[in-house]
Amino acid sequence: MSERESQLGLPAEVLPHHVAIVMDGNGRWAQAKGKSRTVGHARGAEAVLPIVTECAQLRIEAVTLYALSTENLLRRPDDEVAALMGLYEQYLISERKQLLDNNMRFRHIGRRDGMPPTVLAELDRNAELTQQNTGMELALALNYGSRQEITDAVRTIGEKVASGELSPDAIDESLIENHLYTAHLPEPDLLIRTAGEKRVSNFLLWQISYAEIWVTETFWPDFDVEHLHTALRDYARRRRNFGAAPVAID
Ligand code: FPP
Repeated sequence: MSERESQLGLPAEVLPHHVAIVMDGNGRWAQAKGKSRTVGHARGAEAVLPIVTECAQLRIEAVTLYALSTENLLRRPDDEVAALMGLYEQYLISERKQLLDNNMRFRHIGRRDGMPPTVLAELDRNAELTQQNTGMELALALNYGSRQEITDAVRTIGEKVASGELSPDAIDESLIENHLYTAHLPEPDLLIRTAGEKRVSNFLLWQISYAEIWVTETFWPDFDVEHLHTALRDYARRRRNFGAAPVAID
């Protein structure tokens, strides 16, 4: 057992392969403290690195962070979206060294349309610089929507069928998976949501089919490594049967 695992008290075999996180509650955190939503988002950004680094040190294979949905982008006030985009740009630059030091491989998942070119440039730069890394995959879901992702996959597959490159008989689950933005990532087996809402919010709908869901009332800016450990310990106790009959215990 590595030092990190023994601190957590769990062996690597019972840890999830892929943790997906809905980082919710920045606005409520700020409101409760009489601060602006932008301050809440800035504190939310500060909470990201310790969690991601801990996951990398625990040798979790992948983490996907829901940073902004396509619906958030379309429906939030322009000034809030602009502040968030500024924060992402800054964050992508300031945390670059950490990505490299921790041997993480970075990718953006989501649509590029409607995103500021400056943010796209930093997303691309991080992906490019970390492409050869062999450690944890870090996916940042930005302007992401799962229905849009599935729609994009279906469109690409349809084009391949229409051009004769693909036979309709070749369409199976793994082919669909390989056309999602998350292609080649392990399936998320733990979905964490902060700030108490018990919904999925158009996040990884296909991929979380069998994920265990863990919800905490804690707002994202207050979510720390101890909360992560609690989620991992809870996950380790879950009995997962993927649709099979429960195993009888004598
Ligand atoms: C949800 O809080 C959070 C977001 C819409 C944005 C997520 C952004 C961060 C956690 C900060 C930046 C992240 C990175 C990777 C730099 P909310 O505003 O919906 O909160 P509320 O539901 O309490 O209003």
